[in-house]
Amino acid sequence: MKCRKCGATAAINMRQHKLALCADHFLEWVPEQTQRFVEKYKMFTLEDKILVAVSGGKDSLSLWDILNRLGYHADGLYIGLGIDGRRSPSGEGIGYSDESHRLAEAFAAERGLTLRVVEVEQTYGATIPELAVISNRGRDKPCSVCGLNKRYIMNRAAHDGGYTVLATGHNLDDEAAVLMQNTMNWAGGYLVRQAPVLEATQPGLARKVKPLCRFYEREMAAYAIVRGLDYIYDECPHAVGSTTIYYKEVLNQMEEHRPGAKLQFYLSFLQAKEQGLFALKPGDAELHACDKCGQPTTAPGPEGCSFCRLWDKVRAVKGARLPASAAITDPVEA
Ligand code: AMP
Ligand code: FES
Ligand code: ZN
Ligand code: ZN
Repeated sequence: MKCRKCGATAAINMRQHKLALCADHFLEWVPEQTQRFVEKYKMFTLEDKILVAVSGGKDSLSLWDILNRLGYHADGLYIGLGIDGRRSPSGEGIGYSDESHRLAEAFAAERGLTLRVVEVEQTYGATIPELAVISNRGRDKPCSVCGLNKRYIMNRAAHDGGYTVLATGHNLDDEAAVLMQNTMNWAGGYLVRQAPVLEATQPGLARKVKPLCRFYEREMAAYAIVRGLDYIYDECPHAVGSTTIYYKEVLNQMEEHRPGAKLQFYLSFLQAKEQGLFALKPGDAELHACDKCGQPTTAPGPEGCSFCRLWDKVRAVKGARLPASAAITDPVEA
């Protein structure tokens, strides 16, 4: 297989685009495409102050790398979830979270970039797995409380840090899997909110964008490898057997028989939405400031938003060992 641009041996063949490229041209093509999507969906400009949520995985580190190459002003945010607390005999953290943190720090240090870090345990008083055990007695996986914490902390860090936009590394496989799951459930409320850009419609909400939403996971893995980025290969240990992974596999089978199926599914959805196929119900988008932390929430009242309620419950169980709720006012550690 030859590179379409220069005829050299191709490093990647993208059947879905009927395009094969050599390593050099692939490394040019990815940022060019990213810039095209950034402009098409009006995500941000060179004037914006971007916060990239970096997990230490291939997508978010590639995103940070691409934005940096394109000349955007982008700081990183790493959220330490305390997952898999294994230690080496010398006491060093070698589990999933410690390893991802180390890789995100190394990436930033090598390029002289700013990485903000929020350690959930140090800031709020418990790790995500601990939080899951306390909040649902270990009946469910920690993924849903983890998602709630990540969304809250990302929004808060972006908003309080004065960033004009928060960027995540969601790729096409992530988006198509969520889309399929929401379609199977006809979850209209979620479908209407799934988009490459989520505007900050209310005070306290950060503007959110997904610049990689049209790249296949395989393309991002190839980018990270060809570019020589050091990223965490392992998935979160709690993701094993998740519904998202199941839908990713189903979509990969479809893609195998019909290259481009995944992209078409996602793009047709965006088009249908633009044509008004999904609409917000009156009151759906209504948010109020949480009585306790001030963050926007759909559930106002003295008990606070779901984040505050969750941590209040944990605090009641763990008692004085946890920081007072006042500690929640500033989760961002530079
Ligand atoms: P996931 O929810 O793991 O599929 O990750 C989706 C996106 O969320 C990633 O591409 C990152 O941008 C962001 N993200 C996930 N985990 C973290 C984390 N621990 N810290 C900061 N950002 C994260
Ligand atoms: Fe949160 Fe796996 S990343 S539970
Ligand atoms: Zn080439
Ligand atoms: Zn709150």
